Amino acid sequence: MTYGIGLFLDLISNSQLDSGISFVGCGSATPQKIINNDQLGQRVDTNDQWIKSRTGIGERRVIGENESLIDLATKAAMNAVKMANWDVKTIDLIILATSTPEDLFGSAPKIQSNLGASNAVAFDLTAACSGFLFALVTASQYLVSGSMKRAVVIGADQLSKWVDWDDRKTCVLFGDGAGAVAMETIADESGLIGYDLKSDGSKGGCLNLSQSNVFSELVQGATHQKGEYLPIKMEGKEVYKFAVKEVPIILGKLLDKYKINSERIDWLLLHQANQRILDAVASRFSIPSEKVLSNLKYYGNTSAATIPLMLDEAVRDQRVKSGDLIACSGFGAGLSWGAALFYWHGPY
Ligand code: COA
Repeated sequence: MTYGIGLFLDLISNSQLDSGISFVGCGSATPQKIINNDQLGQRVDTNDQWIKSRTGIGERRVIGENESLIDLATKAAMNAVKMANWDVKTIDLIILATSTPEDLFGSAPKIQSNLGASNAVAFDLTAACSGFLFALVTASQYLVSGSMKRAVVIGADQLSKWVDWDDRKTCVLFGDGAGAVAMETIADESGLIGYDLKSDGSKGGCLNLSQSNVFSELVQGATHQKGEYLPIKMEGKEVYKFAVKEVPIILGKLLDKYKINSERIDWLLLHQANQRILDAVASRFSIPSEKVLSNLKYYGNTSAATIPLMLDEAVRDQRVKSGDLIACSGFGAGLSWGAALFYWHGPY
């Protein structure tokens, strides 16, 4: 299997990298409870026809009483490790991309312990719906520098905790889930061709899950802030415009940089936010719908989980095969967005 020595040399010369990266495993896990559009229509003034035609979403899954985000993330990670055929003791790094940790001090160490990955360092990373991509690129820095050899990157979110289920403008969009990839160093050509990440905090007000700013008296003359968050707030139209503008730009620049014609892309793997966003981006690159991965219909927007959840589904049903070129982009709150071009190296 060859990926072009030029790409490999470019990666090395740009970043002083010591080794390449191979994506060798993926996994996912979703909650049992399915809530369909008709059920949501019993709670808020919405209906299946509106939701499907405006978003492509048919149902979503929500973590219930006997499940937890950490359980899902652990299962997703374990599935990725099994696919990679690794001994858990050989994992050096675990990054959990999430905006909804069970513990604000970090949920990744609990996953490390659940996996029995006693030699791995584990930490959380937050970049909302771009989180998985940001975590993947972060992990890649440890790997290509040679300081670590094996990493598990997890995207997992439980936005159902923070959605205002009486706000029809947001509640129809989101769901819970977890996905993971296993990546390791290889001596030769890198599976990760290139990437780019962006942030624009000036537009952060378009989509946020911010603290409530409630202060109460601590002692006489001093107040303290209560730890509380408000539900998700979103300017849907602004976020939509941002995504259909910025995703083609960042992806287009990456394709140009590595001299890859969009016809060579085997799969367009975008953050699953809205089918209309997927279609708009695909049409900008003349990518046919058969090459656009989408499972929005079943899960809605699971934030940091969407990309690995989608990848895992497409790898396990053998749409994505070893050697396939994937053009990936994540975007969301922050605002943040990013893109990566990579070859899937897994066993399927
Ligand atoms: N059910 C029925 N009607 C709804 C509705 C719902 N769930 N949500 C909004 N509406 C109504 C609005 O009130 C509005 O009615 P009006 O014309 O009488 O005022 C009408 O539908 C159109 O609303 P609008 O907000 O203009 O719809 P839209 O076509 O922009 O679609 C989104 C709304 C949220 C689906 C779309 O803007 C979007 O997907 N944005 C991106 C969101 C996103 O991806 N966020 C996460 C990024 S990580």
